[in-house]
Amino acid sequence: LQALAAKTRPDLRIGAAVALGPLSSDEDYARVLVGNFGSITPENAMKPQFLSPRQGVYTFEEADAIIAMAQSKGMIVHGHTIAFTEAMPRWMRELPSGTDAERKSSAAALLDYVTTVVTHFKGRLDSLDVVNEPFDVDQGTSFQQNIWYRVFGSGYPAVVSKAVYAADPAVKQFINENGADVPGRRQDALRKLASDTNAQGGHLYGVGLQAHVYDIGTDAISAGDLSKTLDAFDAAGLRVRISENDVTDDQGTDTQAQQYATVLAGCLRSRACVSYTTWGVDDRYDWSIDHDGNLRQGHDFLFHDGQPTPAYDAMRQV
Ligand code: XIL
Repeated sequence: LQALAAKTRPDLRIGAAVALGPLSSDEDYARVLVGNFGSITPENAMKPQFLSPRQGVYTFEEADAIIAMAQSKGMIVHGHTIAFTEAMPRWMRELPSGTDAERKSSAAALLDYVTTVVTHFKGRLDSLDVVNEPFDVDQGTSFQQNIWYRVFGSGYPAVVSKAVYAADPAVKQFINENGADVPGRRQDALRKLASDTNAQGGHLYGVGLQAHVYDIGTDAISAGDLSKTLDAFDAAGLRVRISENDVTDDQGTDTQAQQYATVLAGCLRSRACVSYTTWGVDDRYDWSIDHDGNLRQGHDFLFHDGQPTPAYDAMRQV
């Protein structure tokens, strides 16, 4: 897939989210990954809950192993993620923020986390999600009021971005969000947040659009909507990563295959789109849940038990 994409877009990376377990134990998984993808995103290993289980204590081994493996095969690495409500260790979530003095000491602890982590990975990441899922989980446009927000206020993405830049000026910074894949209020809010962040001295290179298609009926992304979306971010001077695409087969594998191909084709056509990443490799390790939180594993990816699915074939035809 990477080689095919490079024919028209040598600058664009085809990526996948990966986990160390299958990478080190499943030959099919590693073969398919290396044979098709030009970049990886550690699926969980770089989330704060895994990098820093206790304040001041860091466990980098798993992330380091994934990165070393990727680099040994010529793949670049997208880091995921610094500020993310859902994936914080308890110590971080429970930092006090009631008084000025508390906010001051918590600010120092949070910035220390950013600096330690970004310094550790410096030179090994091509890009990084500095903020993940800033907006509320009900698909609205207001901030999740997490510890970053409570300590630094609504300008927290710029604060994080500046701290990341200070530790690694070369890493390309992104804000990543779900439900902003098609034109609408949430997408407008994401574009405004990214532009505001840079106006406040931040260093964002662009945005990540997750593009999880949990339900074809409600989440499908049309070619027209994707093209409008990419044009709108381009006009705002922002690059786009399709960062976590996965597509349910709830309306059959043909529809699933078409949806995958539509997203890839739209990305290839727009100069704003710098990465197309699918949130997994093989159905064997499918993470997915539906809108009600039920597991729906086993039917989402480009490979099934090491063999290509119709979606993979459709992607090759793009
Ligand atoms: C998911 C992982 O894939 C799962 O393994 C984990 O249990 C929960 O998180 N949006 C994101 C990702 O930005 O970090 C999430 O990853 C999927 C949704």
